[in-house]
Amino acid sequence: MPTTTTTSPFWLGTSWKMTKTLAQAGDYADELRSAALAERVPPELRLFVLPATTTLAAVRERLGVVPQVFVGAQNAYPGPEGAVTGEVSMGMVRDAGARMVEIGHAERRTLLGETDELVAAKVAAAVSAGLIPLVCVGETAAERERGSTASVIAGQVHAALGGLGRLAPVELLVAYEPHWAIGAQGRAAAPDDVAEGLAAVRQVLDDELPDVHTGVLYGGSVDAGNAAGLAGGLAVEGLFVGRAAWTASGLLEIAHRCADAVRARSTTDQAIVRKDR
Ligand code: 13P
Repeated sequence: MPTTTTTSPFWLGTSWKMTKTLAQAGDYADELRSAALAERVPPELRLFVLPATTTLAAVRERLGVVPQVFVGAQNAYPGPEGAVTGEVSMGMVRDAGARMVEIGHAERRTLLGETDELVAAKVAAAVSAGLIPLVCVGETAAERERGSTASVIAGQVHAALGGLGRLAPVELLVAYEPHWAIGAQGRAAAPDDVAEGLAAVRQVLDDELPDVHTGVLYGGSVDAGNAAGLAGGLAVEGLFVGRAAWTASGLLEIAHRCADAVRARSTTDQAIVRKDR
């Protein structure tokens, strides 16, 4: 019998990456807050916004208490506060208002040499600090061409969980973001490729964290035009957006497309369940 996703919220979030002044971040937060208060955020969705570290606290404050919208950090250092110039700790981003923290994005892995070991240390530190880790994994174009997509993804997810030991996350998210799909030069993965990538992630999570509430998301050139098609995939538990959600109206438009797809999907699920009885 198929598992229905009707009770879990569908995650939809954006990383602002290295963009936005305080004024721009504040305007975005105000617009999102107004939309949430006016019930223009579909109830099936849980939104998240990951501002740059410089605007995180301001966004948290300007959003106020909007239970449906989480604020998070794009990165944090996996050690306690102290003499580490230029870094911020997990505790510091939590203090600034983060409920979640992104770890291991492709841009950090390629531009800044972030390794699987560092990712694992960050995941453990995030869980210790009470943050929800959002771990990014994905293969390069060359790895895909070699046919090693599933093994690369599985290896990255397995490695990311390697520092947890006895730590039990309350919730943990993994975003499958193939490198070739991200950014202005990228192209969104086809639904079948998304399904393959998410299945590889899901398998490791189910094997290694069977008792943890986990979610698997797709990211890479998601926009208003392709969001519904991607969100309609049964294995897709969320979408992670960059450029297309750098305006609040962009995020909200994608939110509505996702909500329609998720509603249609639950109707299909229920129909299949009824047929199976
Ligand atoms: P784009 O949507 O701009 O391709 O970025 C995706 C991403 O990297 C989200 O983390």
